[in-house]
Amino acid sequence: VKPVNILAVETSCDETSVSIVRDGKEILANVVSSQIETHQRFGGVVPEVASRKHVESITWILEEALEKAGLQPEDLAAVAVTQGPGLVGSLLVGMVAAKAFACAMELPLIGVHHIAGHIYANQLVHELAYPFIALVVSGGHTELVLVESEGQFRIIGQTRDDAAGEAYDKVARALQLPYPGGPHIDRLAHEAVEAVTLPRAWLEPDSYDFSFSGLKSAVLAVLNQANMKGIAIEPAAVAKGFQDSVIDVLVEKALRAVQAYGAQQLVLAGGVAANKGLRARLTARCAEAGVPLLAPPLSLCTDNAAMIAAAAFLKYRRGQFAPFDMKAEPLLKL
Ligand code: KG4
Ligand code: ZN
Repeated sequence: VKPVNILAVETSCDETSVSIVRDGKEILANVVSSQIETHQRFGGVVPEVASRKHVESITWILEEALEKAGLQPEDLAAVAVTQGPGLVGSLLVGMVAAKAFACAMELPLIGVHHIAGHIYANQLVHELAYPFIALVVSGGHTELVLVESEGQFRIIGQTRDDAAGEAYDKVARALQLPYPGGPHIDRLAHEAVEAVTLPRAWLEPDSYDFSFSGLKSAVLAVLNQANMKGIAIEPAAVAKGFQDSVIDVLVEKALRAVQAYGAQQLVLAGGVAANKGLRARLTARCAEAGVPLLAPPLSLCTDNAAMIAAAAFLKYRRGQFAPFDMKAEPLLKL
């Protein structure tokens, strides 16, 4: 049988990425160009700047991916692209590039939801068993998703305000750490000897929703008070207090969902899945509860096109192709 090589394009935020994945498993190329340095001086992603950067790099990244994979366009079976959600200008660049390439090479087109991509990043390295609960934690999303069968998603809980990664980035900014702050807080939390005590937003007893804006405000209040009283406060203690609070709530709700829905596995996904503290706590709690835990390798947690190709392969097998008038959808539903 001929291998199914899918070329995927991901430009939903500030990473320009093109990957080629064979049979939904084997990564032949995964080129990721981060714009972080460009956005760092603004303390966050500037949408107009992001779109322009995508335009500048998408063509050479596509060529580089083909070269790295050692393939010609004729060797491809389909072209996949992130349809949404994300920044509209950024999504549009990837959408136009993917369509132009697919059209020129006479290849079918597949649209992928960015979160489905994060979840199916796990498919590249693990065997998924349905139903499973996915804990999706990224810069734009915090969701507990019940995946009943392949491609069947049901959001059972989500953040009511900030996403987990967004809270990390905002707290990092208050601690004068560089953008994106998640990895810096993670590192500081591990170095900490003490932790500042901060609240946990459990919400209603039966709710799978999350809320992180109160926690962020509590951090700001602690920092302001210390500042007013002229007391030095250890950034590491703040980082640890914040991280402990986020992890407590994420882990407890995720495990409760696994039990309630009779899930076979707990699947971790999204940029915050790279968090060492979260991975360690989930590993320990899942072992205790006898729940298999799956997580992508660190390099596949943050945005990349290999995860889009992995999700696209499942759609390819089901014959779910997209029309060439497919639109970029900044608020696309899972
Ligand atoms: O999935 P992603 O690359 O982009 C979105 O789709 O949003 O996630 C980026 C987010 C950022 O908020 C970043 O601070 C966070 O993931 N992140 C982390 C870590 N590595 C990345 N947060 C906590 N700990 C980490 N080690
Ligand atoms: Zn993402």
